[in-house]
Amino acid sequence: MAEVALRGVGKVYADGTRAVTDLDLDIADGEFLVLVGPSGCGKTTALRMLAGLEEISEGEIAIGERVVNRVPSRDRDVAMVFQSYALYPHLSVRDNIGFGLSLRKVPKAEIRKQVDRAAEILGLSEYLDKKPRNLSGGQRQRVAMGRAIVRQPQAFLMDEPLSNLDAKLRVQMRAEIARIQRDLGVTTVYVTHDQTEAMTLGDRVAVMKKGVLQQVAPPQELYDRPANLFVAGFIGSPAMNLLKGSLSGDEGAARLTVGGQDLDLPASVLEGRPALRGYFGKDLVVGIRPEDMEDAALVGADGGATATAGGGGTLVSAADLVEAMGSDVLVHFNVEAAQVVTDDTRELARDAGTDVLGALEGPHTDLVARFSPRTAVKAGDPVTVHVDTGRLHFFDIESGSAIWGGDAGSSREDEE
Ligand SMILES: Nc1ncnc2c1ncn2[C@@H]1O[C@H](COP(=O)(O)OP(=O)(O)OP(=O)(O)O)[C@@H](O)[C@H]1O
Ligand SMILES: [Mg+2]
Repeated sequence: MAEVALRGVGKVYADGTRAVTDLDLDIADGEFLVLVGPSGCGKTTALRMLAGLEEISEGEIAIGERVVNRVPSRDRDVAMVFQSYALYPHLSVRDNIGFGLSLRKVPKAEIRKQVDRAAEILGLSEYLDKKPRNLSGGQRQRVAMGRAIVRQPQAFLMDEPLSNLDAKLRVQMRAEIARIQRDLGVTTVYVTHDQTEAMTLGDRVAVMKKGVLQQVAPPQELYDRPANLFVAGFIGSPAMNLLKGSLSGDEGAARLTVGGQDLDLPASVLEGRPALRGYFGKDLVVGIRPEDMEDAALVGADGGATATAGGGGTLVSAADLVEAMGSDVLVHFNVEAAQVVTDDTRELARDAGTDVLGALEGPHTDLVARFSPRTAVKAGDPVTVHVDTGRLHFFDIESGSAIWGGDAGSSREDEE
């Protein structure tokens, strides 16, 4: 086991495609780091550079104390697990798991011992004599994991290992990978484009966009304090609502106007984000998590608002669509505020497979609120939405950076 470090790592492919730019990551010994981002953002490229399967164009990679830029893949002592399990169909599970060890002329008794141990960890003991074709998808994925485990590598490198499994199995295997990694304590870099997988698995999560690292932090911190619009919109499901607003206020109080409606901000908002004062009289981007909104009819009545961070305001609209999820109800509505169109939101829309249409249909932004199942709101009904204004997020409209302390409107390096 070892720490893994990437320092200023970049990749330009032979055809001139720049896949990764100036990537800095320090992964601690035994840490589970998840690399997440939309398709094409450079996750696989980064992982393949770590594995030594792709040459690095710039920077330095170290595994343990050793700089491995020029170390061939087989000598890097890392084990890859891919999306395709790449099992040998004619070999038994036992021989598949032990294959790498036999290649390296490890004594038979030792191979047997290692394979038995891995099979035990993975719950494969009773399948060791079967052929891969007689296994389920989940079991095959476990065999692939087994091959990585027996090598006792310095690090596991996993590239979307669960993406070929159906949804239910994926959740089950996800829990299992987390358990195995914890038990073995092997430093792991795990690539996925699924933000739920990233949030549930990672000790820390690194979010990439177009080859550039946006933020790396523990899951809850990414969720609570996204560094910019891209991370804000990418992490969370349903996604954070983003809309254009303007801020006004004086020393004590501040008011936010979105789509012609006013929301009063509690003093705590300005206290926690001194830089917001620099935005008085200006437009900015407001982020509202779906769960920070509630049916106003329920708030206050029987404790519906007990979880609020000490602020509230309401938005009046009509429910376009109501989706009962059992544990909560997703209410879609819109406000007459201009859509936020930046490089970040375009990239998010591309990833979600939706398009930014706003401009053609007049200024309105669709929002999703997560109401309590006790709501009586039906599609088409007028709705008054209580907003927990103490939990709003604010971003600079030009740079997309979150507004906290320091200099207002400081821009990011990756802006184009
Ligand atoms: N061999 C290659 N030659 C040229 N360009 C490549 C090559 N491999 C990948 N790319 C490009 O590099 C960029 C990053 O690709 P990469 O496969 O690393 O993304 P990814 O984040 O793993 O995406 P996905 O989620 O779809 O797997 C993309 O623009 C891709 O088209
Ligand atoms: Mg990939």
